[in-house]
Amino acid sequence: MPLLTSEHVDERLLESVRLLNSKIGNTPLYPITKLFAKPNVTIYAKQEWKQLSGSVKARAGYNIFKAAIEKGQLTREKTLLDATSGNTGIAYASVGSNLHVPVTLCLPENASKERKEILQSLGARIIFTSRFEGTDGAQAAAKELALAHPGKYFYADQYKNDNNWKAHYHGTALEIVQDLPAITHFVAGLGTSGTFVGTGRRLRELNPAIHLTSLQPDNPLHGMEGWKHMETAVVPTIYDTSVADENLEVATEEAYEMIKAAWKYEQLLLSPSAAANLAGAIKVAEKLEAGNIVTVFPDNADKYSEVINKLISR
Ligand SMILES: Cc1ncc(COP(=O)(O)O)c(C=O)c1O
Repeated sequence: MPLLTSEHVDERLLESVRLLNSKIGNTPLYPITKLFAKPNVTIYAKQEWKQLSGSVKARAGYNIFKAAIEKGQLTREKTLLDATSGNTGIAYASVGSNLHVPVTLCLPENASKERKEILQSLGARIIFTSRFEGTDGAQAAAKELALAHPGKYFYADQYKNDNNWKAHYHGTALEIVQDLPAITHFVAGLGTSGTFVGTGRRLRELNPAIHLTSLQPDNPLHGMEGWKHMETAVVPTIYDTSVADENLEVATEEAYEMIKAAWKYEQLLLSPSAAANLAGAIKVAEKLEAGNIVTVFPDNADKYSEVINKLISR
């Protein structure tokens, strides 16, 4: 029997992680027909909550997990560690509980009640970090822990890990082109930037004429959970400014108004970042004579009752 070293590949674990693949991605492309209508211009959004763990981060979380197991960096004797604002943590915790691999997460203490409850119910260990330091503070705490216990943890570091954007390069982009070969524009907000960078890079390779718009909050204190204000935040290593043709800003108030409109006209209950992506896609659509714009809905409103209850009148 081989010695269990950090380079040991656990073949049974590898088989188990590969079996989960069918639960990741392949999300439907939803056409917006009532909230926004203009001749020759259509907006579509990928409903990313329709996969394991209920958000776009299933793709990155799963791919990071799988690659680490393939390289022998992660076995059942180790713990996956990372910083997260919630959704990546839920993705890691879902995969971890399926595979019986422990997961430890550094999470800002002001993450929503639902997020904390979901993570705890999936068996993840949570280390709370300062609400004032956001995901930057959570990242610093995770890094410190990984350095202090190198043998115990596999530090996933979603902000640096190429398997984050590659999940979208090999998944999201190809799914979009398969469902909508006539796509002309792609629009998405930036968190770790994995969704925008990975999808945008592949779409550009497939069609150099594609127009790529990244979105950011208009100030550091915003309500789009999952988004980063790059000018003032610790910039993720995987972020590549050269991918975007343009960058637009979205205000929290615009996103909140869009949550109400999406419910009223499309009967979609969106999260703040999904609504912000839709607001950004509409900004792009308003300037166009013709085109097929695609964005993503990273998750739905399930985990945001504190925001949604105030916006949607009962
Ligand atoms: C709700 C939500 N929206 C958007 C994003 C941004 O996605 P990415 O990290 O791929 O840039 C995230 C990331 O955590 C998220 O949780």
